[in-house]
Amino acid sequence: MSIDWLQRAVVQAAGLHPYVPGKPVEQLLREKGLSEATKLASNENPYGPSPKAIVAMQRAAAEVHRYPDGNATQLKQVLAARHQVGSDQLLPGNGSNEVLEILIHAFAGAGDKVVFSQRGFIVYALVAQAAGAVPVPVPEADGLSHDLEAMAKAVDAHTKVVCVANPNNPTGTLHGQDALQRFLDALPREVLVIIDEAYYEYVADVLGDSWHRLEHPGLVICRTFSKAYGLAGCRIGYAIADAGIVAVANRFRAPFNVSLPAMAAAIAALDDDAWVMDRVLACQRQRQRLEQQFSTWGVLGGESHGNFVLLRHPDAGRILHMLEDQGIIPRPLAPYGMADFLHVSVGTEAENSRCLEALAEILNEVG
Ligand SMILES: Cc1ncc(COP(=O)(O)O)c(C=O)c1O
Repeated sequence: MSIDWLQRAVVQAAGLHPYVPGKPVEQLLREKGLSEATKLASNENPYGPSPKAIVAMQRAAAEVHRYPDGNATQLKQVLAARHQVGSDQLLPGNGSNEVLEILIHAFAGAGDKVVFSQRGFIVYALVAQAAGAVPVPVPEADGLSHDLEAMAKAVDAHTKVVCVANPNNPTGTLHGQDALQRFLDALPREVLVIIDEAYYEYVADVLGDSWHRLEHPGLVICRTFSKAYGLAGCRIGYAIADAGIVAVANRFRAPFNVSLPAMAAAIAALDDDAWVMDRVLACQRQRQRLEQQFSTWGVLGGESHGNFVLLRHPDAGRILHMLEDQGIIPRPLAPYGMADFLHVSVGTEAENSRCLEALAEILNEVG
């Protein structure tokens, strides 16, 4: 039997880089022989989901012998009312990651260009590559913040998709709506522009209603329930876009791409704004605490607008291993070309205390 086809696939896949997630707690426990560890690597909400979402998931669990509503009708109704858009302008997905995948695959084919910031969320590059498109990373002017002017200049007749993470992960930087609108005005009308707002709830007061404030025919706003809503394990996110864009994207979507418990949890979580707001405020207070301490130690890597902070130190790699030895899992940023940075998600007050105590000891030793 000829396995040429398999060899060809292996060679093709070898050029693709898989996404490297934060190290799971169980893996660190095994590696280090520890009995407990704290994961501060994936920008998760450390407080858990809203109690209303938990009840909704428990109810949904008894119904999972049935397929979910493939059109996500009820979720779309709730989101449409919240965002003052039509249900046909909403594209729910298995995490906003899947929404990004669907959109990039739908709008950028072989040879088309996808423009993004070099230290923007890494999934844009990975998905563009997997779609056969040409990834066009644009360096940041200051090493952290999207250079919107340079990104606009990088767009040419072959560019089909532009991705902007606002705030960005991993750098935590934020652009105001005026700067974004100037950027949109500088782009051709026929380019799809994905504004990825995975951390929107942490900057809602600054950004306001992006969909109604920004204008571009190819505008897409991406949101997720993974961060402020505490539903990362459910995998649910969505995009808002023109109905025509959503209709195209729907042709690239798998049937039943959002699970029944995920939809139930999201609908219930949207009905618990007070809970979400309370946790967002707690996270912001804890972020400030971490940033102040990092700044005092001279290791603050930049101001963050997400639910994470940046540590910068020439010995970041060594610090990472020393933190892991103490059962704390930060995220290395070497895949972003930021080998002297560590990314630390904001945990609960107790988790952050543990992290700061460990860091105080480590920095004492490392210098
Ligand atoms: C900027 C950004 N966009 C999208 C995602 C994907 O999130 P999810 O697929 O959990 O919705 C993440 C996750 O970390 C992110 O940081």
